[in-house]
Amino acid sequence: MNRPSRRAFLKSAAALGGALALPRDAFAEDAIPLLRAMPGTAQIAPDGYPTTPVWSYATDGIGTVPGPELRLRAGERLTRRLVNDLPQATSVHWHGIRIDNAMDGAAPLTQAPVPPGQSFDYDFVAPDPGTYWYHSHNHSMEQVARGLAGPLIVEDRTPWLAEEGAATREMTLVLDDWLLTRAAEIVEDRWDDLHAASHGGRLGNSVTVNGTSYPELTLRPGERLRLRMINAATARIMRIGLPGLSPRLIALDGHPVTPRAAETVTLGPAQRADIVIEGPRDTDRPAALLLDPGRGDWVDIAAFVPRGAPVEAGPSDIRPLPSWGTSPAPDMTNPQREKLLMEGGAMRGMEGAMYQGERLNFRELAASGMVWAFNGVAHGMDQPMFSAIQGQTVHLELINRTAWPHAIHLHGHHFTVLSRNGSSDPYRDVHDTILMDPDETAEIAFVADNPGRWMIHCHMLAHQKAGMMAWFAVA
Ligand code: C2O
Ligand code: CU
Repeated sequence: MNRPSRRAFLKSAAALGGALALPRDAFAEDAIPLLRAMPGTAQIAPDGYPTTPVWSYATDGIGTVPGPELRLRAGERLTRRLVNDLPQATSVHWHGIRIDNAMDGAAPLTQAPVPPGQSFDYDFVAPDPGTYWYHSHNHSMEQVARGLAGPLIVEDRTPWLAEEGAATREMTLVLDDWLLTRAAEIVEDRWDDLHAASHGGRLGNSVTVNGTSYPELTLRPGERLRLRMINAATARIMRIGLPGLSPRLIALDGHPVTPRAAETVTLGPAQRADIVIEGPRDTDRPAALLLDPGRGDWVDIAAFVPRGAPVEAGPSDIRPLPSWGTSPAPDMTNPQREKLLMEGGAMRGMEGAMYQGERLNFRELAASGMVWAFNGVAHGMDQPMFSAIQGQTVHLELINRTAWPHAIHLHGHHFTVLSRNGSSDPYRDVHDTILMDPDETAEIAFVADNPGRWMIHCHMLAHQKAGMMAWFAVA
C-alpha cells in the first residue's frame, strides 16, 4: 500500500480547520510559497485553433506556459515548495544560478526526483543579477517539451533601469518551439525518437513568444526597452533579428557584456540575451521580432506596435549593466587542463563507446537509446568526467567532432570563452551555455569555486537523453 504523502497529510490536517493543534514549525512550513507542477491547457496555436494540453507551473493555482516569472534581487533568497501534481516524477533546475549544489534540482545527481503527489523545498541564494530560467530536470526532454519552463529574473544590485542612458522599461520574452498535431496537441509518441535524437533534436513546428503565437507587443516611439530573451526550446536554435529597432546587446546568459550593436543574435537552447531596443519613430511601420528557422527566410514571430507619446531622445550610448563583482576571473597561470570530445550522431556515428560500464558498438548503443558520447562515454553518470579542487581554474577544451551543433551547459558555474577554432575570442563573453557549430572547437575557462557534483550536458534535450550527459566534481 502507498504511504500517504506528506502533502496529502497536510491537506487533511488543513481540512480539520483550527481544531487540530499543529506543531509550530508546521505553520512556518505552510508559509513557503508554492511552485506547483501540474497539467493544464494553453492557447499555444494561433487563435481559432483548439487549446493545447500542457504541463505547467503555477504559483497561484493556475498553471501557465511559460511558468510564472519569478523575481528576486541579487543576493536574496528564493524559497519555493515544488508540489508535484503531475503523473510523473519531476524536479526543478534553476538554470544559470551559481547555486548551492543541494538546490540545483539536477535529478538524480543532486536530489531524488520528486514522485507524483509529493513535494520538495527549494531554498537558495541567487548571487548574480541577470536573466535566468527554471525548468524541469527529470525526463527533461518530455517535461520541458510539455511546457515545464519559466523565467527567473535576478534584478540588478544597483539601479540600472531608468538611469541615464539605460532603458526605461523591461520585458521578458520566453521563446519556445512546440511540436503540435493538427488538433494542436503535443505530439506524444516520439519521446524516444532516435531519428530526432541523432539529428538536430526534437524540432517543433510552432514557435511562441511568451507562450503565444505572434503576440503584439507595444512600445512608445523612441522608447528604450530592455528585452530579456530566453530560449526555452528543447532543440531549436533561435536566430533572432530586430531590424529597425537599433538593438544593442547588454548581457548574455545573465552576465553583462560591453554594449554592442546586435542586428541579429543567435540563442542556442537555454541561452539568454538582454538586448536594448528603441521604438521606431516612424509609427506607420510596425516593427517585428524575426526568426530565421534555418534557411535564411526570416519569419515574424512577434510584432512591436508603436503606441503612445514619443519619448525624447537620450544619449546615444547605452549604459552598461553594473558588473557582477561576485565571480572570480580564471587564473590562467597554471590551469587544470581538461577535454570534452563530442562524438556520434547521424552522418558520423562512432565506432563505439562505454555505456553503463560496458563497451558497446554503435548498433548496441543505439539499441540502448544512445547515439552520442562525451570522451568515449555515453551518458557517463557512474564517475565524474573530471574532479577539481575548489578554487582551481579549469581550462576545458571543447571539441565537436559531430555533424551537428550542440549547446553545452555547465551547472553551477559560468565560464569565459577564450577561443573558437583556435583564434582568440574578441569578446571573451561569460556564459553558462555555449553553442558549438559542427566541427567547431572552443576553449573555455572557469574557476571551480562551487563545491558539489555538477552536470555538464548538451541542452538539446534529445541529445542529452541520448548520451550527451556527464558531470564533474568540485571538492
Ligand atoms: Cu538548463 Cu542541466 O540544465
Ligand atoms: Cu547536442
